Amino acid sequence: MTTRILGIETSCDETAVAVFEAGEPGRIVAERIASQIPTHARFGGIVPEVASREHLAVLPDLTNAVLADAGLSWTGLSGIAVTAGPGLMGALLVGTAFARAMGAAAGLPVIPVHHMEGHLLAPGITGQLPPFPFISLLVSGGHTLLVRVDGIGRYAVVGQTIDDAAGECFDKSARLLGLPYPGGPEIARLATGGDARRFSLPRPMLRHDNLDFSFSGLKTAVMLAAQSCEGEADVRWKQDLAAAVEAAIVDVLVTKSVRACEQQGVDHLVVAGGVAANARLRAQLAAEAGRIAVHLPDPRYCTDNGAMIAYAGYRRADAVPESWDARARWPLDAL
Ligand code: KG4
Ligand code: ZN
Repeated sequence: MTTRILGIETSCDETAVAVFEAGEPGRIVAERIASQIPTHARFGGIVPEVASREHLAVLPDLTNAVLADAGLSWTGLSGIAVTAGPGLMGALLVGTAFARAMGAAAGLPVIPVHHMEGHLLAPGITGQLPPFPFISLLVSGGHTLLVRVDGIGRYAVVGQTIDDAAGECFDKSARLLGLPYPGGPEIARLATGGDARRFSLPRPMLRHDNLDFSFSGLKTAVMLAAQSCEGEADVRWKQDLAAAVEAAIVDVLVTKSVRACEQQGVDHLVVAGGVAANARLRAQLAAEAGRIAVHLPDPRYCTDNGAMIAYAGYRRADAVPESWDARARWPLDAL
């Protein structure tokens, strides 16, 4: 029988479901995403309890809709992959309890997936993973990691943020500019046509030889710049500041990723996670990577989605632990 894995993602503010079908190449048969962003927007960030309740309200119908789109019943599946962590505990419990219940009812194996491994393997959903070893820059709302990948499940974190994540810096800067959550796409939109040179923002840790990041100082610099412009009749400064913060974050991410490849003697770089959807980051990587081959997932598989969980579950199907639990915190190199 053709291998088909249902993927379920509920770790944060998207309820997402997809069916991956193995083959040469594999494909996504159907997928749906229900975003909670409008619900959380009025709070300026994600409210965990609200997130859990909304996952619970939409997940069963969303899953049935995906199966209907795919023209499949539960018996047409080979397994159920579900995000088991890291993320919001209540939100993870909704997804994992649903997956376990449906797995027991339909007689299907349930495969726990690490959310960041889902991001990391995302270039494989619609294309091919690069040959091992490769470096992966994982940039999302909660993580900024440089990972050396020597095989599926063989991950060594070689650099990470010592404070805020890159996505968090986008989100907090957006808030300072009066933009809604999530801030990354909003900053990117406002930055178009802005003049990044008007503000000289720091490139934190760039001169340090190591592969770590720090973004909290940049956030403070954005706050001071915004305060100095407040009250100006012409609001063009907002465009310029958006362009400047985007340029600063992108410069740091590109430079450290290239440095990671050079230090590790690796020729392939994967960039994944929500921030990898950023057009400026994608363009600058292409321009500055030199001999390093850059592999980027389709932008819709950079932000949270069910397809990446289904695909990671497919790659992980033969390594399911006998017992497992949802984990709010779960270091990638503990896999
Ligand atoms: O991976 P993701 O969807 O969720 C997490 O696992 O965190 O990442 C969300 C993060 C948010 O911080 C959001 O502002 C950022 O990714 N993001 C972007 C863009 N799209 C999403 N940042 C910059 N440019 C974008 N186009
Ligand atoms: Zn994510």
